[in-house]
Amino acid sequence: MRKFLLFSVLSLLLNSSVALDLFRQHENITYGQKLESASGTFELGFFTTGASKHFLGIWFKVSPQAIFWVANRDSPIKNSSGVLSISDNGNLILLDNSNSTVVWSSNSTYTSNPTTVQLLESGNLVLRDLETNGVLWQSFDWPTNTILPGMKVGQDLVTGHEWSLYSWLTSDDPAIGRYHYKMDIFGSPEIFIWDGTQKHYRTGPWNGLRFSGIPDMTTFQDLFSFNFTVSVSEISYGFSNKPDSLLSRVMLNETGIMQRLVWDQHASSWNIFFSGPRDQCDFYSKCGVFGVCNANDAVVCSCFHGFEPRSQTGWYMRDTSQGCVRKTELDCANGGHGFNLVKGVKLPDTHNATVDMTIDLDKCRQKCLADCSCVAYSGADIRNGGSGCIMWAGNLVDTRFIDGGQDLYIKVARSDLDASKSRKTHLATIISVLLLAFALSLFPLGIFIWKKKKRDRGKVSTTGLSFGESSSLKDSELPLFDMDTINLSTNNFSIDNKIGQGGFGGVYKGQLPNGEEIAVKRLAKQSSQR
Ligand SMILES: *[C@@H]1O[C@H](CO)[C@@H](O)[C@H](O)[C@H]1NC(C)=O
Ligand SMILES: *[C@@H]1O[C@H](CO)[C@@H](O)[C@H](O)[C@H]1NC(C)=O
Ligand SMILES: *[C@@H]1O[C@H](CO)[C@@H](O)[C@H](O)[C@H]1NC(C)=O
Ligand SMILES: *[C@@H]1O[C@H](CO)[C@@H](O)[C@H](O)[C@H]1NC(C)=O
Ligand SMILES: *[C@@H]1O[C@H](CO)[C@@H](O)[C@H](O)[C@H]1NC(C)=O
Ligand SMILES: *[C@@H]1O[C@H](CO)[C@@H](O)[C@H](O)[C@H]1NC(C)=O
Ligand SMILES: *[C@@H]1O[C@H](CO)[C@@H](O)[C@H](O)[C@H]1NC(C)=O
Repeated sequence: MRKFLLFSVLSLLLNSSVALDLFRQHENITYGQKLESASGTFELGFFTTGASKHFLGIWFKVSPQAIFWVANRDSPIKNSSGVLSISDNGNLILLDNSNSTVVWSSNSTYTSNPTTVQLLESGNLVLRDLETNGVLWQSFDWPTNTILPGMKVGQDLVTGHEWSLYSWLTSDDPAIGRYHYKMDIFGSPEIFIWDGTQKHYRTGPWNGLRFSGIPDMTTFQDLFSFNFTVSVSEISYGFSNKPDSLLSRVMLNETGIMQRLVWDQHASSWNIFFSGPRDQCDFYSKCGVFGVCNANDAVVCSCFHGFEPRSQTGWYMRDTSQGCVRKTELDCANGGHGFNLVKGVKLPDTHNATVDMTIDLDKCRQKCLADCSCVAYSGADIRNGGSGCIMWAGNLVDTRFIDGGQDLYIKVARSDLDASKSRKTHLATIISVLLLAFALSLFPLGIFIWKKKKRDRGKVSTTGLSFGESSSLKDSELPLFDMDTINLSTNNFSIDNKIGQGGFGGVYKGQLPNGEEIAVKRLAKQSSQR
């Protein structure tokens, strides 16, 4: 009975502490106690990992596993003797009370004024000077492996302070792991994931709207506003929620993958909106220097036009690490070079690139042409028809094709220009169009018939489409139909019967009087392109 009473008193005490979102000097948070943000979205308290290590962290109340901030990542407390309090000099300190050791401290500047610490509704833990109300320290400035709306990754150029993320060591240990997510402030700033001392993944430079390598950011811009800042005092990227947004976080997980997660209230789970690297082409420098990666191609790596594999045998064996070299060396002093356009790419690593936001693409081209060290250029900002200029020197590293990618202009010797090739293909196109026009004037209507025979379908699926088609054509022995029959069976080429559109006209389904289903291609007078 006494035990029970004691327990109720204890839990009352605990409950009363749960409601609080702040504490002052001479107050503290001990094991089992929590701070809760005003609307109950976030909680701060101690958590324990499998190895009986205790850490102070902040997590989402609806999802306590989603711990997005940890104070003592690399100095766990071995038992439940941790105490979070405010030191005499106003700093936030985490004590191991079993031996009175400070295992972690907020390390902010000394103040003689009283201070207070509060867990805000944003998830930010803030230490304030009670007299000036100034922020002395905030957890948002010391991210661990996660950024929340309102946080950022980048660098304060005045203090040199860097906002970056380190992955957890394992899913059960928040100690600093091997992956590091940080902004490269050189060239056109972009975010990298480092695996130790190796570059692992790159978002691509910011193009005014999104990262060059993450065109899919547009698919969730209704939920978030992205904030990329380049100023004299700061280079940073962050995002904020749009009104009525759901809970979300961007996390670097233990396997070096960046995930954007959004809380699904109904399913009580986190949905993945983006994760990167997303495929093999996102692994840094997959195809080596001057190589370009295409995830939709069976042979994912190729060289830019005007370049060839440095090691043909290596390339043949799918070892693309040595990358590509020029077919024809540039003779810069004597001119005689131009640019090949590569469309739809994630722009190459800009670490050594030069950015000039004051000139347009034409000026950019002239500047690159005149500068012998320039090997490629592109626009820097894709908004409002494009502006700014990025010029690469040295090697082009880590370029890939991507839906919604950008234009890149690569300097090559005149003999390696696509233009000389494309003039030939233009001619070929013109000739074939002329021939076709002639053929069209003779046959106003072309007809294909697919007999719906089970035998043929079997063939199609086992031997491939093209073979199946030609064999069924043979079977039908090309019967002829008059125009009335065709009009009747396709309901006068009714739009309802249209099942497709090819380069030279529409395809309509129909039914012959004998019940046989047909597809009719109606050739247009001109080739149409949508
Ligand atoms: C924590 O605060 C309580 C009173 O609120 C106090 O009795 C206790 O000594 C404090 N512990 C530490 C380690 O400061
Ligand atoms: C106090 O405990 C921590 C672990 O909780 C340990 O790392 C530290 O070495 C201990 N300090 C002393 C002086 O025993
Ligand atoms: C924590 O461990 C130390 C020694 O390892 C011990 O003195 C202390 O009583 C323990 N505290 C708790 C709360 O278990
Ligand atoms: C606090 O500062 C000291 C000395 O500058 C440093 O050794 C320690 O790692 C810092 N602690 C934190 C939590 O930043
Ligand atoms: C964008 O970031 C800058 C620099 O961190 C900050 O001053 C500004 O308030 C942010 N804007 C928005 C809308 O979040
Ligand atoms: C890391 O993220 C990837 C991609 O979403 C996922 O497949 C993997 O399971 C995650 N790893 C951990 C340890 O959560
Ligand atoms: C940038 O230049 C340095 C020094 O020449 C070189 O080591 C590095 O590989 C270059 N980085 C890129 C991405 O080209």
